[in-house]
Amino acid sequence: MKSELQRTLDIVAKQNTWRREECVNLIASENIMSPLAIEVFNSDMMHRYAEGLPCKRYYQGTKYVDEIETLVTELGKKLFHCKYFDSRPISGSVANLCVFTALAQPGDQISNLRVADGGHISHSALGAAGIRGLKTLNMPFDHKEMNIDVEKLKSLIKKKKIKLIVLGGSLYLFPHPIKEIKEILEDAKILYDASHVLGLITGKRFQDPLAEGADVVATSSHKTFPGPQGGMVYTDNEEISKKVAQAILPGIVSNHHLYRLPSLAITMIETLEFGEKYADQIQKNSKKLASSLYEKGFQVLCEHKGFTESHQVAVDVRGNGGGKKVAETLEKANIICNKNLLPWDKDEDTENPSGLRLGVQECTRTGMKESEMEHIAHLITRLIIKGENPDKIKEELIQFKKDYRETKYCFTKNRIN
Ligand SMILES: Cc1ncc(COP(=O)(O)O)c(C=O)c1O
Repeated sequence: MKSELQRTLDIVAKQNTWRREECVNLIASENIMSPLAIEVFNSDMMHRYAEGLPCKRYYQGTKYVDEIETLVTELGKKLFHCKYFDSRPISGSVANLCVFTALAQPGDQISNLRVADGGHISHSALGAAGIRGLKTLNMPFDHKEMNIDVEKLKSLIKKKKIKLIVLGGSLYLFPHPIKEIKEILEDAKILYDASHVLGLITGKRFQDPLAEGADVVATSSHKTFPGPQGGMVYTDNEEISKKVAQAILPGIVSNHHLYRLPSLAITMIETLEFGEKYADQIQKNSKKLASSLYEKGFQVLCEHKGFTESHQVAVDVRGNGGGKKVAETLEKANIICNKNLLPWDKDEDTENPSGLRLGVQECTRTGMKESEMEHIAHLITRLIIKGENPDKIKEELIQFKKDYRETKYCFTKNRIN
């Protein structure tokens, strides 16, 4: 029997070969870091603590952590056009919990989207919002438009005292009506969860939440924005920033996983340089993947609106056996995506929901363009509609993927030397 040591090394090697070299990755919440960001991920900072803020730490030995965190904060303000920026939340859900803790008390009412309408579980009673003791009220959602129904929301919030409205989401095709919602609010604040679309926001291809009226943005740092896995919060409101900082420490985060910071800085610098081109291609690719699938007979949502404005494509696969079966069949051919609830599903339909959610941000980062999206749609059609053997498609796919193993929209090592 192999030793546990060898098994561990083998598992990592297999993961690296399979997911990086042999799969087309269409999970909408993932991405790959640039070679430079990966290189600096492996630093001594992974061993250290630096509680507190730069130059005001509770620990000695933090002078370079202070420098990198200060740089990340400067870059964050520049990139997100905000006055206050905090990189300490260690994930997107944690970032949301920090804001819930800062801006609401147990028993307060918030308004969020159902998971089937695109909300994230951390916005719900089962997740961070519930852990903070908040009462959740689902926002009315227009299934056809795949967006919040502002008129119905207006009458709903009149009847209830809402503390916080949570916008942004996980199944997220079109910008949310921030301005319109801001106009109908009285005292409530808007938390915008930019986790999925941050790379489109920084690339100026999606709504800028603060400019449109959100009070605070919480986000993860690793979906369309291709940074290290982690979280961030930003705002223009000083009082909110202070409350969030207090919720972070001494509240929710002690050590903020310092090894993320150099990679985050590199990703921010690369985004300032290449972010617009990257976001532009993401949008072209998602539209192309959607229209190609639609033309081949798939029930792609929102054809009347050009399918999508984000990195995501949503497909109703009830007629193809449901989300579970389709996602599993695709995996057999190394096409990786996830089954997804769609608005007409019940909350408990998680085992075999109606939909598939496809995200093109990682394929785009490896250099794929519209013609490659057509090819992927063709492979999906052969698998799911024509019922071809997944092993055969897998062989073709591994060949196809050989040309897309590099990471684009970033610096090469030569370029900075
Ligand atoms: C909208 C949204 N917010 C928050 C999160 C949670 O982020 P994390 O996994 O970094 O905790 C996700 C995860 O996919 C998400 O889609």
